[in-house]
Amino acid sequence: MNILVTGGAGYIGSHTVVALFEAGFNPVIVDDFSNSELRVLDGLEKILGFKPRYYAQNCNDPAVMRRIIRDESIGGAIHFAAFKAVGESMLEPLKYYQNNLGSLLVLVQTMLECGVTNLIFSSSATVYGQPDELPVTENALLPPSMSVYGNTKQIGEEILRDTSAAGKEIKAISLRYFNPIGAHPSAHIGELPTGIPNNLVPFITQTAAGVRPSLTVFGNDYNTPDGTCLRDYIHIMDLAEAHVESLKFLTENSSSSFYDVFNVGTGQGCSVLELIRTFEDVSGMPLNYRIGDRRPGDAAAVYADATKIYNQLGWRASRTMREGLADAWRWQQNMRIRDETPV
Ligand code: UFG
Repeated sequence: MNILVTGGAGYIGSHTVVALFEAGFNPVIVDDFSNSELRVLDGLEKILGFKPRYYAQNCNDPAVMRRIIRDESIGGAIHFAAFKAVGESMLEPLKYYQNNLGSLLVLVQTMLECGVTNLIFSSSATVYGQPDELPVTENALLPPSMSVYGNTKQIGEEILRDTSAAGKEIKAISLRYFNPIGAHPSAHIGELPTGIPNNLVPFITQTAAGVRPSLTVFGNDYNTPDGTCLRDYIHIMDLAEAHVESLKFLTENSSSSFYDVFNVGTGQGCSVLELIRTFEDVSGMPLNYRIGDRRPGDAAAVYADATKIYNQLGWRASRTMREGLADAWRWQQNMRIRDETPV
């Protein structure tokens, strides 16, 4: 089955392209390369043995999407294409609503027109804010979002839930990602943050590689075992495989309309200091870091109850955080960082 992968040149998208291919699906990428790079396709070619089919297009254009869906005989879609910088989303809300929700609406509408039913939507643990109970289940009431980015994920989920509830012929799953880390073990693809990374692991690997002078740990006075925040770090290939299992479930599901939401995490909370120590151990490099102020908007602790996805889709994480950090470090070293990592 041919699967449309919007944002397929991005971090999660590119790894999912590999997992789809390994599971016997034919991924077709649509990516406007606004926040990804063409060389990702070269990395994919090294892993797959061929360059995947791709369209350098923005998925906000209904005519473009209709044409691709028809020309490629698409049987399902995974929608990754979105802006994801939390801080920027607060400064440019319309840009985020237009891009993240506009593209989802275009995709759903063109899928309905073309009779394509299977859709996986990239959601995020950000929809939970700071959960009252941990590990957090999918049944937790969602608080008002703390960012425009987070709001686009909450509203995106609602768009799919309402479309399905109205009996439209769409079968959709929202996957709420916890914190993806690592890279494909070949180190041909990985995370390529633009400029200064927002996320912890690329900041750590760039610091260890000498691209950044030091890492600031954002606060050590939280109500957690060592005072630093707890997150659920999931290996990017595990996350990629969760998409494949979700897609298999939808394609095997005979109902014409379906919607559900699943956490995709390991179920383990890990502190920033614990992650740093594991990285130092894995890489053999001492990390230059200091304790700084809290980052506004950070939740103290967020980790998943991942039993629903295991019980219903049979997926669970099989790789460790240590493997994720080892793969992230291998990828960083493989980038010939001084030439290729923007400072
Ligand atoms: N952290 C640091 N120093 C850094 C970067 C991060 O100490 O330089 C800490 C953060 O305070 C947090 C942890 O590392 O405790 C993880 O931070 P990330 O930025 O990597 O990840 P977040 O959990 O903040 O972000 C995730 C997703 C976003 C999502 C966000 C909102 O990556 O897409 O949750 O909750 F929007």
